[in-house]
Amino acid sequence: MQNKIYPETFHFQDEWKIDGISIKNLAEKYGTPLYVIDKKTLITQAQKYINSWKKYYKNKFKVLFAIKALPILEVIRIFYKEGLGFLVSTGGELFIARSAGVDSHKIYFHGNAKSIHELEYAIKENIGAIIIDNFDEYEKIKFLTDKHSTSIKVLIRLIPNIEVSTHKSIRTGQIDTKFGLPINQVYELIERIRKEKYIDFKGLHAHIGSQIFDISAYVKLAEVLSEIYNNLKSANTNIEEMSIGGGLGIAYTKDDNPPEIEDLAYQVSQKFEETIGHHFTLICEPGRSLVGRAGITIYKIESRKEIPGIRKYVSVDGGMSDNIRPSLYGAKYSALLITSNESTNTIYTIAGKHCESGDILIRDFEDKWPNYGDYLITFSTGAYNFSMFTWYNATVRPGVVLIENGKDRLIVKRDTYEDLLRGQI
Ligand SMILES: Cc1ncc(COP(=O)(O)O)c(C=O)c1O
Repeated sequence: MQNKIYPETFHFQDEWKIDGISIKNLAEKYGTPLYVIDKKTLITQAQKYINSWKKYYKNKFKVLFAIKALPILEVIRIFYKEGLGFLVSTGGELFIARSAGVDSHKIYFHGNAKSIHELEYAIKENIGAIIIDNFDEYEKIKFLTDKHSTSIKVLIRLIPNIEVSTHKSIRTGQIDTKFGLPINQVYELIERIRKEKYIDFKGLHAHIGSQIFDISAYVKLAEVLSEIYNNLKSANTNIEEMSIGGGLGIAYTKDDNPPEIEDLAYQVSQKFEETIGHHFTLICEPGRSLVGRAGITIYKIESRKEIPGIRKYVSVDGGMSDNIRPSLYGAKYSALLITSNESTNTIYTIAGKHCESGDILIRDFEDKWPNYGDYLITFSTGAYNFSMFTWYNATVRPGVVLIENGKDRLIVKRDTYEDLLRGQI
């Protein structure tokens, strides 16, 4: 379990530590709940992507970090230094990427309901490419590029009609989806774009879902993309770039067996080799698999209770505000208790502090019975925890600490009560 779930530098040496730093000390220094990010894991994951494509794909490739997974300036800067590009899904994410100092050409922008203001912002910034989702978006881009007499590069998002076995809320490749266009409409849109002076068609984009364990779904996607590539080539339309999206799964519990990044690169490269060759720039857009395992969350145990014959509850000082995924779609997590209590193992439910019965972080967790004030760590919280923060119950957002070369550094300050009033009149 440890190799799959723990950050690279998490270890036991007299006590639980991350890169030599005591978890207990971190909790005491910065307060809880606290998000902790291990830089070594971020870099390890980024290098796995880069080295794997380098090894198997015989042409240019781009690894774009989907910043929705962890939109933090310092994390973006770390990946930028490693050579990654960035995928944004809103004007806000574009603003964060630019504020981190990312060159606009390294930014791709997807999303199914981009506003005219967001598109204008992207066009003025002259970003790497806008990934067009629908005909209305094309009309908006046409209006804006004509208005400013300026060009923009575009990819088109298609629905590959591939069902993957992941939670239905994070499945996106099936025909009944709000993301992208059916393939026949993609051809129609390309025809229209070809007549445009300022819209520069560069290629195709697809994303089949998130937390995917089955690489054969990506191989099927490569087949679908290859077929369209060939059809367009026969119609004299050149494709320079194709994106296979993100979505590679990670381990949240000991039962999860996610595939290797290298295997994704190998199998997808093989498939393209067999079908159309490596004649285009390949793009992938990982989020979760770059940052998920790098993150842990430290909570303090605030209360314990037993409903005799029914259940034991242990409540922590965070919950659905800092990690909404268990209550949103039943996501499972692993945890570790830091305690001096020598009791034998027992089974209990770890509850959040929020005013919803569904605010449960882990059901039927087994460990020692904690003392009040002990700390509990949840693992694999680097992706879609900080970014999905909700301030329900006027909860302040936890701080984020980066662990780097045996040192801890605050990279996002904990909110204050005053922050809760921001914007209120
Ligand atoms: C188009 C697109 N690409 C990439 C991603 C990143 O997915 P993941 O974090 O599962 O890798 C998403 C996530 O929603 C997405 O919508």
